[in-house]
Amino acid sequence: MTRLLFLVLSLALSLICSAQTNPTKLIVPGAQWRDTDGNVIDARGGGVVQSNGSFYWVGGTVGSRVGTVVYSSPDLVTWTNHGSVFASGMGRPKFVFSETTGLWQIVGQIGRQFAVLSSANILGPYSQVGTPISPFGVNFTDFGLFQDTDGQAYVLYSADHNNLVVSQLTLDRTNLTKVMHQFSGVGLESPAMFKDGNTYYVIGSHKSAFMTNNNVVYSAQSLTGPWSVQSYIAPMGTRTWNSQSTFALTIQGSQTTTHLYLGDRWVYPDLPNSTYVWLPMTINQVTKGVQAVWNDAFSINVETGVVTTPKATKYEAEAGKVTGSASVASCTTCSGNQLVTGIGATSTLTISNVAGRGEPQWVSFHYINTDGLFGDLTLTDNQTLALVKQRNATVSLNGGTPMPLAQYDTNAGIVMSVPLQMNLTQGSGNAITIASIDRQAAGDLDYILVY
Ligand SMILES: *[C@@H]1O[C@H](CO)[C@@H](O)[C@H](O)[C@H]1NC(C)=O
Ligand SMILES: *[C@@H]1O[C@H](CO)[C@@H](O)[C@H](O)[C@H]1NC(C)=O
Ligand SMILES: *[C@@H]1O[C@H](CO)[C@@H](O)[C@H](O)[C@H]1NC(C)=O
Ligand SMILES: *[C@@H]1O[C@H](CO)[C@@H](O)[C@H](O)[C@H]1NC(C)=O
Ligand SMILES: *[C@@H]1O[C@H](CO)[C@@H](O)[C@H](O)[C@H]1NC(C)=O
Ligand SMILES: *[C@@H]1O[C@H](CO)[C@@H](O)[C@H](O)[C@H]1NC(C)=O
Ligand SMILES: *[C@@H]1O[C@H](CO)[C@@H](O)[C@H](O)[C@H]1NC(C)=O
Repeated sequence: MTRLLFLVLSLALSLICSAQTNPTKLIVPGAQWRDTDGNVIDARGGGVVQSNGSFYWVGGTVGSRVGTVVYSSPDLVTWTNHGSVFASGMGRPKFVFSETTGLWQIVGQIGRQFAVLSSANILGPYSQVGTPISPFGVNFTDFGLFQDTDGQAYVLYSADHNNLVVSQLTLDRTNLTKVMHQFSGVGLESPAMFKDGNTYYVIGSHKSAFMTNNNVVYSAQSLTGPWSVQSYIAPMGTRTWNSQSTFALTIQGSQTTTHLYLGDRWVYPDLPNSTYVWLPMTINQVTKGVQAVWNDAFSINVETGVVTTPKATKYEAEAGKVTGSASVASCTTCSGNQLVTGIGATSTLTISNVAGRGEPQWVSFHYINTDGLFGDLTLTDNQTLALVKQRNATVSLNGGTPMPLAQYDTNAGIVMSVPLQMNLTQGSGNAITIASIDRQAAGDLDYILVY
């Protein structure tokens, strides 16, 4: 009896413990993601499909700016690189399968035209179908793709730079049949589309070169419209959490359907330092408003569709120790209504007594950087070059070698975060020192979260 009770109790306890265990397979927006070989994942402007229990990600390389690369994953976290499938420079490539031909297609843009690669196997080898075409005689750029639940697929593109167009693909996915809708006079790029219930959503970014802006979304009950007015998909001023849409991935789980926003955080001119911002989206079923919800880290169970966020411990910057001209200042939008400003090469902030587990842990640094306030302006490339958008902090753990921490511009009062993986020692004796290699200063620090 006692023994049985003990067994039941310990079973209940272990169930509680496992429910509280932090998820280990984390999607960490803005971190440098690595593949199973340890190399940085280089698949920009891409898209993801789920097929037969695996995910496949196709994107363009920014390292060489010519390759089209494919990765696969069972869980959206562990990615295996399958190498380049096309070497001639396809922009914003996306996968689409043709039931009628049984072939996998990678579609995208080459130059200012629509182009198709095709293969019997999703991992290739791919060959180009015909030559690139100019659908309906227009300049075709900023390609996006959506596959509907009835099997029809649609491409989204910027036509002659000033119209966002949704067109249906032929069933063999090699040509466009008809225009479903044209958002006239709307200069949007990097479009993405998804469907929730019976509602369609189109996401797009304004045109501001490699600078990020506040991406917008439209909704409609039919692809031919009427489409709603634009609304923003992230809090104003975060510029879509410093990212640009590229795709919307729907995970139809056994418990829930989750739509993921897939974005690129372009870092110009250091393009290889670009990262990915993938976030779960929420939908207001009344207004049909869409929000890409910031998470420093999250995991998604690809079977159930459920998103989980790991636990974290918060350490306020103002509770740390400052040196030099670093100081505590008030900030109404900050945690604790305070932050630490003036962090520089010889003006540091040290947060002590940080608890660690003796293994690599994610630490997110929540900061404000008000440089480069340009809103949603359309910029020319040379204006982009003239703008300073990044503050360069350094982070040193327990007096160790400083690690770089790029703090892209936020906006007045907008607190954003950047992640860093650190090997905190076990116990509560860790000290994290924030300084800067920037000729100005680091961003102002609000707080850190240790996951
Ligand atoms: C999944 O299985 C179907 C049917 O066998 C096949 O046509 C398709 O190519 C497979 N998907 C992948 C990614 O291999
Ligand atoms: C396509 O773009 C090129 C280069 O910007 C331009 O010369 C041409 O007129 C455009 N074509 C159309 C149909 O707008
Ligand atoms: C693509 O479709 C259009 C009609 O929508 C047709 O005029 C054109 O010839 C087709 N192109 C190819 C390569 O099949
Ligand atoms: C931008 O480029 C144009 C043409 O190359 C040049 O005339 C202009 O002075 C440049 N502007 C800046 C701010 O560098
Ligand atoms: C950017 O990439 C370079 C290598 O190309 C690396 O040395 C540097 O630390 C990176 N910067 C940041 C902030 O990660
Ligand atoms: C953390 O420790 C792991 C070994 O456990 C090592 O591979 C990694 O490079 C370390 N990371 C840092 C940032 O020191
Ligand atoms: C921050 O670092 C980047 C390179 O990672 C560099 O391009 C930029 O000029 C630096 N910013 C400042 C203000 O020093």
